[in-house]
Parts: sequence; structure tokens; C-alpha cells
Amino acid sequence: MNQLNSDIARVKECIDGANRVFVLTGAGVSAESGVPTFRDAGGHWKKIDPYQVATPEAFERDPAFVWKWYDERRVQLNTVDPNPAHYALAQLEKEKEDFFLLTQNVDDLHERAGSVKLAHIHGKIWEVRCMREGTAWEDHRAPFPEIPPRCERCGELVRPNVVWFGESIDTDAVESTERYLSKGAVDVALIIGTEASFGYITHWATRSIGPSGLLVEINPGVTDLSSSADICLRGPAGEILPLIIPA
Ligand code: OAD
Repeated sequence: MNQLNSDIARVKECIDGANRVFVLTGAGVSAESGVPTFRDAGGHWKKIDPYQVATPEAFERDPAFVWKWYDERRVQLNTVDPNPAHYALAQLEKEKEDFFLLTQNVDDLHERAGSVKLAHIHGKIWEVRCMREGTAWEDHRAPFPEIPPRCERCGELVRPNVVWFGESIDTDAVESTERYLSKGAVDVALIIGTEASFGYITHWATRSIGPSGLLVEINPGVTDLSSSADICLRGPAGEILPLIIPA
């Protein structure tokens, strides 16, 4: 048995015996569905400066430009489906008494695979928010008939209900995460498909396991979290997760 196989077997055993499991996902979990990541070759931030499309200043300067970028992403997302990684995590939720999934992704592929106990720390791309009223709602039109789209009630611009650089992360998602983590250490934390480039992500990941839980990273590459992980399963999430969580 090679190292990867024996690590997979060890993680499977720990997951089988665990009650409390925390999962943290990033763009890599949707990569095998055909959704580009941000920082890999071909990722969004390799093609466009995030400050042109993912800041409040960019939206103020040119809402149509920002919305064209989000509209294209929404159109592309409409062509993709959840992959085996999303389905394995939905299955894991069914098996565990005390499960919580925190995703940095704005897509809805976890929900479409069946996940329920989850929060989106960076917002949701299928929601829009009125710039005047501040209210948010789901809008699945893609492409929008008019760019930039406007609020049907008051005529003001709407924006994507996602977190931009320089903004606070989603308050409800922070509260759900804090509520879950404050109940005590988890048995296993799975950190999947993220560069873990934000302090709050590495903080929640490392804090979640307390003194005795197992921190597992699933990622083909090395990240800022790798040195803190007990086990790094180096491979694509859509191949590794079904081995750990068989249907
Ligand atoms: P990144 O694009 O920074 O990182 C993607 C990670 O996924 C990398 O570590 C890849 O090695 C890994 N990866 C690629 N393919 C994979 C696969 N098949 N299976 C598992 N892992 C794979 O994306 P995030 O870390 O999610 O925020 O980025 C975090 C945030 O930065 C995003 O939510 C976005 C971005 O700026 C905002 O827009 C606020």
C-alpha cells in the first residue's frame, strides 16, 4: 500500500468513528464540475485583477463592467453539475449527528448535491442585493435581460450578494460557524480545495480540532494550511472523497 492509500484508509477509519465533523471547502471542490478556481493556472485572478471586479469601488466606478463578469460566471454555473466530492459531503452530513460545512464558494453546488447544514462565508452568487434597501433575494436569471440589473421595487441598482475585497464576511455565516465551533472540538476537520489564504479560514480550521481532533487537508497542492494538517491527501477531491465516504 502506498502512502496515499494508507492515509486514505486512516482518514476513513477516523471518519467512520467520528460524531462531530467540520468541513471547510473552497473553489477546488467545484473544480471537477468545471468551475474555475481563483488562484490556480486558468483561475479567475490569473485573468483579471480582483480590484476591477470584486470591490465596492469597482462597482461604484462601473457597475455594468462588474455585472458582466458576474453574469458570465452565472451563465457558466448554469451549465455545470455537482461532482462526486459534493455528493460525498452531502452523504457525510446524513451519516453524522453533528456536522457543519462552511464554504467559501458562492456557487450552490453543495446544496444541489443535497447539503443542508452549511453556510456561505463569502455570500451567494445567485442572490442580488438592492443598493438602496439593502435587502437580498434569489434571482436565477442568467443572462440578465438588462446589465446592470435593477431592483424591480425601487429602480435602484442591485449588486451580487457576495463578499468583496475590503468588506466584512457574511455575519450569519460567522455566527453559525462560531455557534458550531463553540460547542467543543470536532473529531475530524476536512479542509478541501482551498488555498486557505485568509486568516479566518486557517484560524477556524486549526481551532476546530482542539487538542485531539484530526485535521485533514484534501488538495492536490501545498497550501498555507498544509503544515498544520495531521494528514494531507494530495489529490482531486472528487476522487479522494468517495473513497473516504462511500455512497
Ligand atoms: P483558490 O483558487 O485560492 O484555491 C483553490 C485551491 O483548490 C488550490 O489550493 C488548489 O490546489 C485546489 N484545487 C484545485 N483543484 C482541486 C481539486 N480537484 N480538488 C481539491 N482541490 C483542488 O480558491 P479559494 O481558496 O477557495 O473570495 O479562494 C478563497 C477565496 O478567494 C474565494 O472565495 C474568493 C477568492 O478571492 C472572494 O471572492 C471574497
